[in-house]
Amino acid sequence: MTPTRIITSTVLFFFILFVGFYVYYLQIDVPMITNSFSKKVEGVTSKDTKRTETPPVNCLFANLTLTCPLSSSETQISSANKSSTEVCPEYFRWIHEDLSPWRKTGISNDMIMRARRTANFRLVIVDGKAYLETYGKAFQSRDTLNLWGILQLMRRYPGMLPDLDLLFDCNDPPVIESSLYMQPNSTVPPPALFSYCSDDSHLDIVFPDWSFWGWPEINIKPWTTLLEEMKEENSKRKWTEREPYAYWKGNTDVGNSRKDLIKCNVSDKQDWGARLYEQDWGRESQNGFQKSDLAKQCTHRYKVYIEGWAWSVSQKYILACDSLTLLVKPRFYDFFTRGIKPLKHYWPIKINDMCRSIKFAVGWGNTHEQKVQEIGKASSDFIRENLKMEYIYDYMFHLLNEYAKLLTYKPTIPPNAIEFCSATMVCPHPDGLEKTYMMETMVRHPSDTGPCTMPPPFDPPSFHSLLEEKEQSIKKVETWENKFWSRHRK
Ligand SMILES: *[C@@H]1O[C@H](CO)[C@@H](O)[C@H](O)[C@H]1NC(C)=O
Ligand SMILES: *[C@@H]1O[C@H](CO)[C@@H](O)[C@H](O)[C@H]1NC(C)=O
Ligand SMILES: *[C@@H]1O[C@H](CO)[C@@H](O)[C@H](O)[C@H]1NC(C)=O
Ligand SMILES: *[C@@H]1O[C@H](CO)[C@@H](O)[C@H](O)[C@H]1NC(C)=O
Repeated sequence: MTPTRIITSTVLFFFILFVGFYVYYLQIDVPMITNSFSKKVEGVTSKDTKRTETPPVNCLFANLTLTCPLSSSETQISSANKSSTEVCPEYFRWIHEDLSPWRKTGISNDMIMRARRTANFRLVIVDGKAYLETYGKAFQSRDTLNLWGILQLMRRYPGMLPDLDLLFDCNDPPVIESSLYMQPNSTVPPPALFSYCSDDSHLDIVFPDWSFWGWPEINIKPWTTLLEEMKEENSKRKWTEREPYAYWKGNTDVGNSRKDLIKCNVSDKQDWGARLYEQDWGRESQNGFQKSDLAKQCTHRYKVYIEGWAWSVSQKYILACDSLTLLVKPRFYDFFTRGIKPLKHYWPIKINDMCRSIKFAVGWGNTHEQKVQEIGKASSDFIRENLKMEYIYDYMFHLLNEYAKLLTYKPTIPPNAIEFCSATMVCPHPDGLEKTYMMETMVRHPSDTGPCTMPPPFDPPSFHSLLEEKEQSIKKVETWENKFWSRHRK
């Protein structure tokens, strides 16, 4: 090599290195900033698209610093507590039911601290500021994104949350057993604990799960974004053009009923009308999640929902497909699922005779196309209208507000708690999908209107008839099913 050549290649080498480094750097940061500024975020279109040109430096974006500012949008007291005349969706009425165990006694500090055994963190809000005491890191991003969600709620409705004190459990199953506290002879009121789900024998207070702000570990995008994508994908594939089978894809290692479900898969010997797939998250993460895009999973006319260890976050994605949801008899409920009705939003499937139940549903559906499409549309509409992000925030607002009304003491800052806010949470956070999702879901402006108006508690007769109606619809399907199988017994 001649000296000029050596010089040229050296220069070229460093040039490539430099460009490479720059591109690498940009790739990490720019999409994050571009995303969060040019997209429609949380129903607010940002007018600051110019800011996409800001240099790729974190936390230059919203005048945030590494300490919680004296007056951030989270702590600002709004001049008036705005209200809205719009009434919240019906499922908000369950907030009254979930808090009813403490209606007479109120909630004392002792009742909260008795739930400490399984809680992941304690959250205290005093004078519009949030304080956190961590007891144990939760699985994956659960606690982080839930706390992030609460901070965004405070940005959406600044100064409107009352002082409160709560313990939160980020594990799957509920833990506060009602049999220990709800006997006529019991003298101790139950501990008060927030969880993701509960069932008829537990008293956990249900709160929206982390996935509304995304599930980074398995590449599930924040709810608002995903819902838009699903709408678009749904319109590309009409119900009649979808595969006339029941589809399910999931992790079969969580719970025995999922193992039973897999037995209904199609094989050389049998066809129950089900097409069932194992979701291997490990392999998927290596392949860049190409085969697990939820928006592209609405390809079948029927979609099975089945619980794992407890409730499953997949339910909202399944219900939003425009397909008929075949809902295997659930044990658990989360904050919204008590609002959906059999034969109106889904088709009930027996848990102890799943294969025949699915076969009947698919056969019925393929001969009652109009009706089935109506139910599929009703469930998508329910999700898009009643479960839009604004209502998730409103649900959190009302639940926390009603809960705080029951507190019998004035919350104070616990000695081991730290103050936290959006800036201290997101700025020092390592780059990655979790941070990207936080940026994407950041609430940029306080809401122009207040939260929807809380509906009143159920009165006993209407509560009774609601449960009765649900029971009747499920019975009706069982009767059709039994009749069918008595005629088709082999
Ligand atoms: C940053 O915040 C301070 C105090 O809240 C304010 O005076 C200043 O104008 C803000 N700067 C920008 C660029 O928004
Ligand atoms: C708004 O509501 C909160 C919680 O009820 C209360 O602490 C605060 O004083 C209210 N602010 C105004 C301006 O009414
Ligand atoms: C309370 O009643 C339940 C049955 O109603 C009984 O199993 C339990 O032992 C009783 N507890 C006490 C403390 O008496
Ligand atoms: C179900 O059957 C299909 C088609 O034969 C197959 O591709 C799939 O892997 C099966 N699912 C499971 C969980 O075995």
